[in-house]
Amino acid sequence: MNIILSGPPGSGKGTQAELLTSQLNYAHFSTGNVFRDHITRKTPIGEQAQKYINQGKLVPDDVVLDVAKDFLAHNQKPGIIFDGFPRTIGQAQGLDKVLNEWQNKIDFVIFIELPETEIIKRLTARRTCLTCHAIYNLDFKPPRKPGICDVCGGKLYQRSDDTEPVIKQRFMVYEGQTRALKDYYKKTHHIYEIDGTLGKDQVFQEIVKLIKK
Ligand code: AP5
Repeated sequence: MNIILSGPPGSGKGTQAELLTSQLNYAHFSTGNVFRDHITRKTPIGEQAQKYINQGKLVPDDVVLDVAKDFLAHNQKPGIIFDGFPRTIGQAQGLDKVLNEWQNKIDFVIFIELPETEIIKRLTARRTCLTCHAIYNLDFKPPRKPGICDVCGGKLYQRSDDTEPVIKQRFMVYEGQTRALKDYYKKTHHIYEIDGTLGKDQVFQEIVKLIKK
């Protein structure tokens, strides 16, 4: 089963993808995490992506689709949680084309909704593990030891795009370029909308209910 988790920045896509992959033997494909790994390793893709990420803009579709094709070519798991990909109609068309070539498809398209004020509150308090990408929040989900990942003992850091001006820019980009995916997928799928203001466990239960139907 292949599931797309979409929604504005900070709506909880990564948190839910982590919960889902811990319970299902699925792959988690987060284009954001892939680009951050490239940036850490100082690869040419990382250099290219960094300037867009720092400004809260989208990395160009051709770069994103190359990374996605590479992931799909190596994936061995029976299902995939797509987190933050696709983000444009061009990416969605590219993904459909590749999946189609392998007689595969998207089964669920889920949008997690969250208002901008809550997004800013959550993202300015987010901390992420440098090593395993586990997600924390100083208000809602603090680590047991300050600055240290509960899962792998790695160092926690604040993402460079989690400052208020960049968060606002990312939200504008979502409204301008990604929200249109709802209409795109409505033509071929039943899309599901979930209230992201609910606690993370409630959001998770809602998603599990949907996919078990
Ligand atoms: P990416 O890393 O994908 O960022 P994003 O989509 O902006 O989403 P976030 O990771 O910020 O938030 P999230 O929804 O995963 O929320 P999380 O679970 O962490 O992309 C970063 C950049 O990379 C983009 O801006 C772009 O430049 C580039 N990029 C990536 N993909 C691309 C693509 N396909 N095309 C082009 N460019 C691309 O939760 C947030 C916080 O809230 C955490 O602290 C968490 O603990 C907390 N939280 C989560 N759920 C709850 C809850 N229910 N209640 C309370 N707190 C909660």
